[in-house]
Amino acid sequence: MANGIIKVDSLVKEYDSLRAVDGISFEVYEGEVFAFLGPNGAGKTTTVEILECIRPLTGGSAKVCGYDVSKESDVKEIKKRIGVLPQDFNALEKLSVKENISLIGDMYDKHLSASEVIKLLDLEDKANAKFDSLSGGLKQRVGVAAALVSDPQLVFLDEPTTGLDPKARRDVWAVIANLKKLGKTVFLTTHYMEEAQVLADRIAIIDRGKIVALGSSQELISTYGGLKLLVIRKGPKDLADTLQAKFGQVTVNKDGDIHVKVDDVDELWRIMDILTTMRLGSDVELQTPTIEDVFLKITGTRITDEGDLT
Ligand SMILES: Nc1ncnc2c1ncn2[C@@H]1O[C@H](COP(=O)(O)OP(=O)(O)OP(=O)(O)O)[C@@H](O)[C@H]1O
Ligand SMILES: [Mg+2]
Repeated sequence: MANGIIKVDSLVKEYDSLRAVDGISFEVYEGEVFAFLGPNGAGKTTTVEILECIRPLTGGSAKVCGYDVSKESDVKEIKKRIGVLPQDFNALEKLSVKENISLIGDMYDKHLSASEVIKLLDLEDKANAKFDSLSGGLKQRVGVAAALVSDPQLVFLDEPTTGLDPKARRDVWAVIANLKKLGKTVFLTTHYMEEAQVLADRIAIIDRGKIVALGSSQELISTYGGLKLLVIRKGPKDLADTLQAKFGQVTVNKDGDIHVKVDDVDELWRIMDILTTMRLGSDVELQTPTIEDVFLKITGTRITDEGDLT
């Protein structure tokens, strides 16, 4: 059985009358990338900051690296073992990358050298560049470097790619994938479905303070994603009729594409047989549900690029 590096039980956080975190329980295993996926205001940062011992909890309990976030004597032990990239990460603008990382390293009794961390994150070219001259993606990479300088076992990354362009986002993904290779446990928050699906071993979907689903993306997709969809681009009308008569669950969109919901592999083969007989093969595509479909199924809404619910 995998070791739990984070154990959260019935955690509650109230801000006056608002229950921002509403009785959540979960475990994060050592060495995994665990994603908290949810829209703006879902309670991601609140949860993460409780685990980082920055905010007090209202109810329930949370243990990090075996220590209790609510016990004053344990907080120091937790802080020694974790690295943090806050949602609003910023460094000193007029200092270089290396100076910033050294400064943060000096706050810890034991830490890696700035040069080691810079090498680890492939920032050698930028070591002497001033922080304010960097692109958004590189700034986030410096943020991850700052989170790693204490050589933590567990790294919290709160929305590490929000606001980045697609190329910079993928660069940060590579950095995160590398953290896992280095043996770190990563707790990632995001509102990007694809990010969670690509990076995380397990995903907790959080909505209005509650975890509404938890599992690997494969588990979530097979439980909630619905059926696979076979798309036959601009298929003939008689094909649509034949498929509808035999299998049901057929629609034709405005471009004339035939969409068939496929229940299982057996059905897929039977449909393929018909396509072969009719000598149709090109422009046929099988679409597998994604985490986006899972989210839609569970919450009835989608998340926009900005992180809001539609
Ligand atoms: N210090 C605070 N005082 C009062 N309410 C707060 C405070 N911090 C957060 N909240 C509220 O708690 C809820 C959860 O906020 P939180 O920042 O944890 O969400 P989030 O999932 O991190 O969202 P985002 O994607 O926008 O960062 C929101 O409704 C927010 O307005
Ligand atoms: Mg947040």
